[in-house]
Amino acid sequence: MDTKKSIHGEWSSRTTFILAATGSAVGLGNIWKFPYITGENGGGAFVIVYLLCVALVGIPVMMAETMFGRRGRENPVNTMHLLTKEANADEHWPYLGWMGVIAGVLILSYYSVVAGWACGYVLKAIDGSFFGVDAQGAKNLFTAFTASPLQLLFWHTGFMAATMLIVARGLSQGFEKSIRFLIPGLFLLLFLLVGYAMTTDSYFQGLHFMFNPDFSKLTGNSILVALGQAFFSLGIGMGAVMVYGAYLPKKVSITETITIIAIADTVVALLAGIAIFPIVLSNNLPLNSGPGLIFESLPIAFGNMFGGWLFGILFFVMLVFAALSSSIALIEPAVSWLVENKGMERSKACWCAGGVTWLLGFGSALSFNIGSDVTVFGKTFYDLLDYLTSNLMLPIGGFCIAIFAGWMMSQAHSEAELAMVKPLHYKAWRLLIRYIAPAAIFVVFLSVVGVV
Ligand code: TRP
Repeated sequence: MDTKKSIHGEWSSRTTFILAATGSAVGLGNIWKFPYITGENGGGAFVIVYLLCVALVGIPVMMAETMFGRRGRENPVNTMHLLTKEANADEHWPYLGWMGVIAGVLILSYYSVVAGWACGYVLKAIDGSFFGVDAQGAKNLFTAFTASPLQLLFWHTGFMAATMLIVARGLSQGFEKSIRFLIPGLFLLLFLLVGYAMTTDSYFQGLHFMFNPDFSKLTGNSILVALGQAFFSLGIGMGAVMVYGAYLPKKVSITETITIIAIADTVVALLAGIAIFPIVLSNNLPLNSGPGLIFESLPIAFGNMFGGWLFGILFFVMLVFAALSSSIALIEPAVSWLVENKGMERSKACWCAGGVTWLLGFGSALSFNIGSDVTVFGKTFYDLLDYLTSNLMLPIGGFCIAIFAGWMMSQAHSEAELAMVKPLHYKAWRLLIRYIAPAAIFVVFLSVVGVV
């Protein structure tokens, strides 16, 4: 297996891989989802649990997933077939690859709807809708926007089309290059927003909310949400990283690159929180307003800060790009499976996988307006998909990856793939992947079911 290469080619360099994988990791999960679920789950204690989940479960699993991809060099289903054979493991393991392909399509179907909101907000930023807006005005803007099925479907369609155009061409030069300025640009704008947040009278109150833990607010379910968010934000547990790993040259260090990516991802999420909570608090907006949180709070900042017109446009454009570089990772497992196993041309595979995803997205788009009354277990279509994928499929995927890497794959193979400089590092990874990560995921699940 050592000299095998993917039929889709390889990343041109270590930097390209870091950029692409950071692009996949940094997305709506960091800027939109992390603040709103932190708000819904009580703040500080949730943030600590989240950081623990990233460090103890997320990073080791992300390394394992990348390593699988680089060893197998094919789509997640085939890669798991090859590794299962090599390890002489149970023939059911390739279902893990399947679950990933499906989870990617499900996640993208609602991810694209929210990315569509960001697209719509670019236009609003341009036409000056945020100018001088107050809390009530920003809220009305968002409510009116999401109440319109046509607008949401329009932007969802546009975003899906853009995603599929990029994926159909393979990872084009243009895209790799654009990520090079996107991620630094995003950092810059986040710093700027943090700067604005500092000028509000609720800056310290915001920090207090984020970093002062009140463990009485933690429930079993919020710990599961933290775990699910760690997987979602890093983009692991479903084979997206596996596919990116499949295009990774042999000589690049998995340990180093993955650590860099995970840290960057976490910093972006924390910065987003530090910027957003003070703005929300100083305008007396509720912290637990859910998916609309950033769309109801950031326009106030842009509408009232110096240069806000320009920064508002830049911010939402960046958000769209950050979402795009994640969405291509979400659909790539399905596309590479259609190409490699069904013999489809890449472009045809894109339209098939993209078409299914696009249709599914209607359910989520409409659950914010005309379909908001249609609920299962008290959850709308959007809520249900989000819960199913983030809180169930990804952690289960991560659990299986940990078990396979720690117990099925031979130690010689994982040691060779990870090629850690210090033996102690490998020992630590092995301890985490064999015991800590699976046990943590298992206990979290038990606590939700109510056993613990
Ligand atoms: N990590 C991305 C975000 O934070 C979303 C994403 C990309 C993802 N690839 C993934 C989520 C794979 C789950 C699984 O926005």
